[in-house]
Amino acid sequence: MGRVEIFEVGPRDGLQNEARMIPVAEKVALVDCLSDAGFRRIECASFVSPKWVPQMADSAEVLAGIRRVAGVSYAALTPNIMGFQRAMAARADEVAVFGAASEGFSQANINASVEEGLARFVPVCEAAREAGVPVRGYVSCVVECPYDGAVAPDAVARVVARLRDMGCYEVSLGDTIGRGRPDAVDAMLEAVLEEIPAAHLAGHFHDTGGRALDNIAVALARGLRVFDAAVGGLGGCPYAPGAAGNVATEAVYDYVTAKGYDTGLDRAVLVQAAAMARRMRGG
Ligand code: HMG
Ligand code: MG
Repeated sequence: MGRVEIFEVGPRDGLQNEARMIPVAEKVALVDCLSDAGFRRIECASFVSPKWVPQMADSAEVLAGIRRVAGVSYAALTPNIMGFQRAMAARADEVAVFGAASEGFSQANINASVEEGLARFVPVCEAAREAGVPVRGYVSCVVECPYDGAVAPDAVARVVARLRDMGCYEVSLGDTIGRGRPDAVDAMLEAVLEEIPAAHLAGHFHDTGGRALDNIAVALARGLRVFDAAVGGLGGCPYAPGAAGNVATEAVYDYVTAKGYDTGLDRAVLVQAAAMARRMRGG
């Protein structure tokens, strides 16, 4: 059936929302375990304002402490040029800019309109191009926004096109609050695929409504082969009230493996990482 890549976001999306301040050593141990599981890309840092997301304030220490496995890209979120400079100083292998398809979430998450947010990403993408650093793009609220309600597929497609034009090598489509229904996800993908081929897209499904795997099925049928997930189903977004964790990596592994896809991951190590993640969350 071919290959599906799981992009592990647990150390970033998973942990950013935890109330307990997790020690750097625990984060480093989780990333090191994930490196052993066979991921090619692990998002483990976020160079956002420490006032906005205190849990990620130690991102440079995490990147300094991990054991870097050859061929694995250790990724970081960068909302603006200051974030990009911090990410470069910490030797992130790739960065991600993160926009939204809805105004309400954009204001709550980055204190900017959708357009203002995109304008901040332009210098990040230019600096990254000069430095030879790949940039991934996120679009949040691709089907539902916690502030504005249902999001039009065309609004998502427009933001995706802008990120593509800025040079993002892949755009990850976020069902930030996990309320997306498969038919709405399908309609959104239809519009987005007018702008960019499936090979440059990823699905990023939170599992609040328990529909993440159904949404992955729809995305697979549309040709997507990269899915973001967090071991142990960790996570949420502090600026998206009610958002539960990302779909669990081990659930995505089981789902796509049963469908005959190869992920290149070692399930036994995944189970260890998931147990570690659950202990970090205290549950
Ligand atoms: P702002 O307050 O509008 O920014 O925040 P500002 O430029 O006015 O700066 C205010 C202060 O922040 C200043 O410090 C800056 O130096 C500092 P002060 O003078 O007050 O001491 N600052 C920074 N410090 C460190 N690193 C930086 C940085 N930038 C400014 N990069 C800002 C704007 C974007 C910074 C803020 O809103 C922010 O950090 N937001 C991030 C929110 C966030 O991280 N959300 C979670 C990630 S997104 C997500 O989870 C969704 C995703 O998973 C996909 C999905 O599920 O949909 C990706
Ligand atoms: Mg997310």
